[in-house]
Amino acid sequence: MVVDVLLVGSGGREHSLAWKLKQSPRLGKLYIAPGNGGTRLVGENVPIEAMEFEKLAQFAEERKIGLTVCSVDNPLADGIVDFFQFRGLRIWGPTKAAAQIEWSKAFAKQLMRDASIPTADFAVFTNHDEALRYVHEKGVPIVVKASGLALGKGVAICRTVREAEVALKEIMLDRVFKDSGTEVVIEKYIEGQEVSVHALSDGKTYAMFPVSQDHKTIGEGDTGKNTGGMGVVAPLPWVDADMMRDIEERVVRPTLDALSAHGSKYSGVLYPGLMMSGGMPRVLEYNARFGDPECQVYMRLLKSDILDLFEACVDGTLDKQKLEWNSGFAVNIVLASGGYPDEYKKGFPISGVEEAEKISGVVVFHAGTQIMDVGHPYIATSGGRVLGVSAVGDTLKEALDQAYEAVDKVHFEGKYYRRDIGTKALSQ
Ligand code: GLY
Repeated sequence: MVVDVLLVGSGGREHSLAWKLKQSPRLGKLYIAPGNGGTRLVGENVPIEAMEFEKLAQFAEERKIGLTVCSVDNPLADGIVDFFQFRGLRIWGPTKAAAQIEWSKAFAKQLMRDASIPTADFAVFTNHDEALRYVHEKGVPIVVKASGLALGKGVAICRTVREAEVALKEIMLDRVFKDSGTEVVIEKYIEGQEVSVHALSDGKTYAMFPVSQDHKTIGEGDTGKNTGGMGVVAPLPWVDADMMRDIEERVVRPTLDALSAHGSKYSGVLYPGLMMSGGMPRVLEYNARFGDPECQVYMRLLKSDILDLFEACVDGTLDKQKLEWNSGFAVNIVLASGGYPDEYKKGFPISGVEEAEKISGVVVFHAGTQIMDVGHPYIATSGGRVLGVSAVGDTLKEALDQAYEAVDKVHFEGKYYRRDIGTKALSQ
């Protein structure tokens, strides 16, 4: 049956989901709210923001949308899925209660402790003086996290006591993340390789994605401030079948079981961020959505019809689906505005995307872009992360070489990117 789809969001993740949905023979009309300069090329952008639930639901009712898809943290945390379900509308994504695994790090840590899911030792504080005392008692390195959502910026890895004191002051006293910093989680620092795991779930069964590796900091060699993610590779060559089994059995299955036991069956995609240390997984955090840019490489590798998979999650029929993947590797290099993740300027014209996409295996996903319609239309920068240059190849090196060749073709003022995406994965 043909289905009209409303996709909520405006990032590179949403462009890649729209690009993949477009390949489904069952897709009718595709709307993206609000979308970006790239989604407009594969569907119709609708000027409704992701947090405008009433307007989104009205649009879905008026246009008889068969399925709404939301993979954005804030609307999920605010209950967009519950809102749509209450109106009798079909929507893909976890309920507010299930998404708590992302919007409350304190909840997630307690769930892991109760279910014996491997994670760093921790304590939760709402009182600044008590948090400070704990840091002084435990020493460094130590990790200070705002418990709520903070655009990926609420985690401070502190190598000196002074850094931890500053992080606690900013989060708990200066309230730089507003109410997200009412509660903090302080946890032991774990050394290792950070990886991203994704599993689709319909609340009864789940299906694993290949493991990917994002590069979260702005600087090469994993230095500088945290960002939403500066580039990603998948699958990771060093993650073998035993590690995959461990990740499933120690993390994914018990997490979904624990959420069910809480009365919050999980439907959507669960994305635990893990630290692999001595071959063993430990959970750093959970996300209740696709990672971005992780989603962009997954959409390049996925062979199965994403619309079938989304509908199976909603209908509870995921056990009837088979997740099929293309062979080889996919990579993504994020092109950011100069200054990101701090202040940056917008509105610079972008050129060379068509040239870049002529290179074998390359697709460029838009994130912070908009089409300027005055006079001769052109694409301009409108966000911190501007484009995701993705490439597939038979080997990881081939995919990386193609992506970096394409990166050189794209131009905008202040273009910034990391030149070391995939270096760690290649050297393992
Ligand atoms: N790439 C990290 C995230 O989406 O949270």
